[in-house]
Amino acid sequence: MKQILKVLEARREQARMGGGEARIQRQHDKGKLTARERIEILLDTGSFEEFDMFVEHRCTDFGMQDQRIPGDGVVTGNGLINGRLVYVFSKDFTVFGGSLSSAQAAKIQKVQAAALKTGAPIIGIFDAGGARIQEGVESLAGYADIFVENVMASGVIPQISVIMGPCAGGDVYSPALTDFIFMVKDTSYMYVTGPDVVKTVTNEEVSHESLGGASIHAVKSGVVDGAFDNDVHALEEMRRLIDFLPLSNREKPPIWNSFDDPDREELSLDRLIPDNPNQPYDMRELIEKVADEGDFFEISPHFGSNILCGFGRIEGTTVGFVANQPMTLAGVLDIDASRKAARFVRFCDCFNLPIVTFVDVPGFMPGTKQEYGGLIKHGAKLLFAYTEATVPKVTVITRKAYGGAYDVMSSKHLRGDVNYAWPKAEIAVMGAKGAVEIIFRKDIGDAEKIAEKTKEYEDNFANPYIAAKLGFIDDIIMPHSTRRRVARALRTLKNKTLENPWKKHSNIPL
Ligand code: HXC
Repeated sequence: MKQILKVLEARREQARMGGGEARIQRQHDKGKLTARERIEILLDTGSFEEFDMFVEHRCTDFGMQDQRIPGDGVVTGNGLINGRLVYVFSKDFTVFGGSLSSAQAAKIQKVQAAALKTGAPIIGIFDAGGARIQEGVESLAGYADIFVENVMASGVIPQISVIMGPCAGGDVYSPALTDFIFMVKDTSYMYVTGPDVVKTVTNEEVSHESLGGASIHAVKSGVVDGAFDNDVHALEEMRRLIDFLPLSNREKPPIWNSFDDPDREELSLDRLIPDNPNQPYDMRELIEKVADEGDFFEISPHFGSNILCGFGRIEGTTVGFVANQPMTLAGVLDIDASRKAARFVRFCDCFNLPIVTFVDVPGFMPGTKQEYGGLIKHGAKLLFAYTEATVPKVTVITRKAYGGAYDVMSSKHLRGDVNYAWPKAEIAVMGAKGAVEIIFRKDIGDAEKIAEKTKEYEDNFANPYIAAKLGFIDDIIMPHSTRRRVARALRTLKNKTLENPWKKHSNIPL
C-alpha cells in the first residue's frame, strides 16, 4: 500500500511541475506566477480541490505522442473565497503555452458545467496562446464547446476572466463572453492575432503592448474592466469582487456585517456642489460617502470615465452604483459611457442587485465623431437596460439632468422606484444659456435681453420643483441625508416584484 501511495504522490508531483522547472523559472523571470500559485492566492488557504490532474492530450501528430504532460496545460477545480464556493480554471503557460487541446477543452467544460449546475461563480485565469496548433480543428471544436458553456451560463452565474499573460484567439473570445475581464499591467496582452500575424497580413509593425496591452484595453477599447499592477494584486482584487456578488441568479445579494450606521449624515455633502454650475466636482466622493465604510469596487475606472460604475454596499447588502462623473467631459453621456453603463446595469439586473444612480448629466455628447460612431444605438443601450431592469432602482439627481439624458438616467419614467433630487438640481430640456439662444435667436445681439431671458429661464426651470410638482421626483432631499434616504428606500424595496412580459429574449440595440 505504501508503494501505491508513493506512486500516486509521484504522479501528482509530476503533474504539479507542469512544463518543468526551466519553464516555471521563465514564468517567474517574466514577473508572472504559475497557474497553481495563482489558484493558491485566489482561494482560501487549503480549500482547492483539483479535478482531472491526470488528463493528457491524445494528439499523435508532429511528435506529440512523446510530449504528454499530466494536466495538459490547465489546472481546474473548485474552492472557497471567504467561505463561498467558486469554480476555477487556470491556464498553465508552461505546458505548450497553455494552448487548448481537445482534452484541455473537456476539462474546462467540466468545471463550467459543474459551476452552472451547482450555482457558483466561475473564474478563468488566462495565460495562453489560443488553439493548440498541433491539434487543428479538434482544438477549434473545443473552443466552441467552451463558448457554448459561456453563453449558457451568462446571466445564471457570474463569470470572471483574469488575463495574466499573452492571450490570443480563443483565449480572448471566451473571456469576451464573460461578465468581467481584468488584466495585469505589462505582463498580459489580449489580441485576436498577435503582432507577427498582424505584420504578415497588414504589414503593420506593432508591439504586444500597443496591440493589446492593459493600456489599450482598460483605457481605449473598453474590452477589460480593470488592470492591476501584478498577479497578486489582481487575484486579491478578484477575492474582493466575489464578496460583492451573489453566487447565482437564484440568490439575493450577499449580506455582510456592516458596522456603518445607515442613518449616518455627511454634512460635507451639503458643500459638494460648487456655486458655479459649470465647475466640476468628484462624484466618487458622493458614492464613497454613501456606501458602507466607503468601500467601492469600481468597474472600468479608466474607460468611459465620464460615468462611474461599480459595487458598494448599503446596510451590508450589495448595490450597483452608476453615476455621471462631472470631472470628465462634464459627465456627458457619450458612446463609451453609454456602453459601459448599459452592460453594468444589465449585470446588476441579471443578478438581483439593486441599482443606485446619481445624476449630474448635461446631455448626450454632440458632434460628428459621436454620430458616426453610432451614438444613437449606443445611447439606446443604456435607455434599454434601465427600462428593462426590474431590480430596485433608486435615483438621486444632484445637479444637472438635461434633455434625453434625464430620461435615460433611471428616471421615474423608466420605472425608477424612488427618485430624489438635491435642492440645486436643474431638470430641464437644456441649460439656460443654450435654451435662450434657441428661443430668442433673433435677439442674440441684445445682450441685456438675453441676460434677462436667461435669468427668467433659470428661475423657472433650473430647479427640481417643477419635476417634484409633477410627481416625477418623489422628494427633494438634503445632500447630507442622502445615505439615510437611499438606505431607507432600498429597505422598502427589498421585496419589490416586477415582471416583464414573457418573451424568448429581448432585442437590445447591439
Ligand atoms: C501550441 C504553442 C502555442 C499554440 C505557444 N505555444 N502558442 N503551442 N499551440 N497556439 C508554445 C510555444 O511553442 C512554446 O513552446 C511555448 O508555448 C511558449 O511560446 P513562446 O512563443 O515561446 O512564448 P512568447 O514569446 O511569450 O509568445 C507567446 C504567444 C506566441 C504570443 C502566445 O506563442 C504566439 O503568438 N502563439 C501563437 C498564437 C496563435 O496564433 N494562436 C492561435 C490562435 S487561433 P516551448 O516548447 O518552446 O515552451 C485560435 C482559434 C480559436 O485560437 C477560435 C476562436 C474564435
